[in-house]
Amino acid sequence: MAEVVRGKQEIRERVAAARAAGKRVGLVPTMGALHAGHRRLIEQSVAENDFTVLSVFVNPTQFGPAEDFDHYPRQLEADVAVAAEAGADVVFAPAPEEMYTGDHSTWVDEETMSEGLCGARRPGHFRGVATVCAKLFNIAQPDRAYFGRKDYQQVKIIERMVRDLDMSVEIRSVETVRGSDGLAVSSRNSYLDPDKRRASLAIWRALKQAAALILGGERSPRIVTDAVRSEIVRDGRLRVDYIEVVDAETLEPIVPLEGRIVIAVAVYCNHTRLIDNITVECPKPE
Ligand code: PAJ
Repeated sequence: MAEVVRGKQEIRERVAAARAAGKRVGLVPTMGALHAGHRRLIEQSVAENDFTVLSVFVNPTQFGPAEDFDHYPRQLEADVAVAAEAGADVVFAPAPEEMYTGDHSTWVDEETMSEGLCGARRPGHFRGVATVCAKLFNIAQPDRAYFGRKDYQQVKIIERMVRDLDMSVEIRSVETVRGSDGLAVSSRNSYLDPDKRRASLAIWRALKQAAALILGGERSPRIVTDAVRSEIVRDGRLRVDYIEVVDAETLEPIVPLEGRIVIAVAVYCNHTRLIDNITVECPKPE
């Protein structure tokens, strides 16, 4: 059983002891409700390090006032079992008061890559994410930290933060884990009944079709986004929040498509917001 630690000081001591024993430390930040995607992150950390810290913290500062903070699934006991099975050494599960004092007033605000995509729709979201990740890095002092590419913009912002603020942690990104039906695994999938889940399969189908379109020579982002949109809205149960085609490194729009690009989407199925993306190499024209 992986041990649960509630206090910052205690986790610091545990990590310091591991480090003193010459161990390399991996950190997997999560908000809990662990699923196969999280498990993959933990397994990769276990494979690449000698001591893996899993953090479970539903971070209030990254939720907007109308978002699902209060309803976000919380199931620490089940999470600890998954963590142990995947090989994590310790679970850091702080109370909100342990992470934020009432007069917390210092924030990490990445200003460029946070602008588009989810950042444009969720004001303050990435400020909350970057701040809590900076705090977790300071608390756990990992050699490496693991993030999923399902949240593509999040990984890029964290990489940028680490570079810009000279943090000594290596960011490792992990490929999106999908169900056998193709839907990206997400804690929010638990909000979908079987019918809505079936409808949501259009997301990955649309992204794969768009990738094929690009590989077939299409270089107009407009045509690509239109194709994604028509597949997603086809059966009427999904509503598009955004569909964007951006440069995979800068997250800037790119016309015509060239180099490594990402097609990123956010879609509502009823009140559930689902995100997904696909990376495509666009060879330069001859
Ligand atoms: P959470 O949504 O719990 O996700 C934790 C990590 O799991 C993130 O890095 C996310 O990209 C990754 N993940 C989620 N679904 C995945 C999937 N299907 N395949 C691979 N990886 C997946 O993202 C957050 O929490 C928070 O913003 C956090 C970084 C913990 C800061 O609070």
